[in-house]
Amino acid sequence: MDQSKRPIYLDYQATTPVDPRVVEAMLPYFTEHFGNPASNSHIYGNEALAAVEKSREILAKSIQAKSQEITFTSGATEAINLAIKGVAIANEKKGRHFITAATEHKAVLDCFAWLERNGYETTILPVDSGGLISIDDLKSAIRPDTVMISIMAANNEIGVLQPIEEIGGICREAGVYFMTDATQALGKIPINVQSQNIDLLAASAHKIYGPKGIGMLYVRRSNPKVQLVAQIDGGGHERGLRSGTLPTPQIVGFAKAVELANMEYKEETRRLMNLRNKLEAQIQNLIPSAILNGNRERRLPNNLNFSFPGVEAEALIASLVGKLAISSGSACTSAEIKPSHVLEGIGCSVSRARSSVRIGIGRFTTEEEIDQATDALRNEFQRLLTFSA
Ligand SMILES: Cc1ncc(COP(=O)(O)O)c(C=O)c1O
Repeated sequence: MDQSKRPIYLDYQATTPVDPRVVEAMLPYFTEHFGNPASNSHIYGNEALAAVEKSREILAKSIQAKSQEITFTSGATEAINLAIKGVAIANEKKGRHFITAATEHKAVLDCFAWLERNGYETTILPVDSGGLISIDDLKSAIRPDTVMISIMAANNEIGVLQPIEEIGGICREAGVYFMTDATQALGKIPINVQSQNIDLLAASAHKIYGPKGIGMLYVRRSNPKVQLVAQIDGGGHERGLRSGTLPTPQIVGFAKAVELANMEYKEETRRLMNLRNKLEAQIQNLIPSAILNGNRERRLPNNLNFSFPGVEAEALIASLVGKLAISSGSACTSAEIKPSHVLEGIGCSVSRARSSVRIGIGRFTTEEEIDQATDALRNEFQRLLTFSA
């Protein structure tokens, strides 16, 4: 397809294109520096290992952690599985109770379902209409046998930012591990595992203009030293926490992506917020019935989630398919379309949840695209509304 005719990409929460500067950094590690970082008997292995360790340091520094506290995984899903299952199994003597929130990513919620199936106890906290947990609810959910609290930093559907610093302080005081899924937050909001008292953190490269197939788990090694057991056994890579040959190009790309995000953070945040605010104002102006979902103030700079009452999101997305690439939070399971658990969590009715779309803007979105997107949304919304009237 002619690139200029491709639909405008506004699904940056699902994934991002790899930044060309990241691709450039990765390329030599596919060809000249192709060695296995675990092969320490020759230069090929040693230069790959040097690149992996340099990348690990960049990633660690970006969240104020130490290099040894970073474990590479295939993505955030695997990091979350390692964190939750690994901590549960290693801390059975300490307790068997875990806390999370109803609007977490499925990777977390499905690990909590695994905990339940395996004899652990869980508390799933509700959220308010803006998507935030209540600190009082959190405090009263903590029990003497609570091992870990897992609350995401930024929501992938409605972009809401949880008060992780406050949650971290509560966890530290209670002697409970604090884990955060920072997949949508890394590179977009400041993360500091020291001041925010984070003990475990999961992240992924492909949400921040890095390659797919690489993620990381930060695990605190002192004050407190987090105990967890590996979920993938093999050659003992990553200090025994995650076996498997390290993908050097992906790791180098991940570090480069984080480096760029940190370097351009201020300018990029300002630009994204301007574009996001413009899009939001235009939508509200042209489609006055549109309702913005999620807390207005505490949200990612690049996210909008709108309900368009009277129109099915799936129909709107399908009718826009040649012009705009956006998504709904709905998960398609067999023939049935389930409304998003996040929108359900913030109290949306089924019909409102079914009329909601997520719009994610990003590094390569232009002002012209924002205008074209608004026009396309307005036109298709009105056309569908006339049909359904
Ligand atoms: C908040 C959140 N957590 C976890 C994941 C899973 O990340 P990955 O695709 O790296 O497994 C995603 C990606 O969809 C996400 O948005």
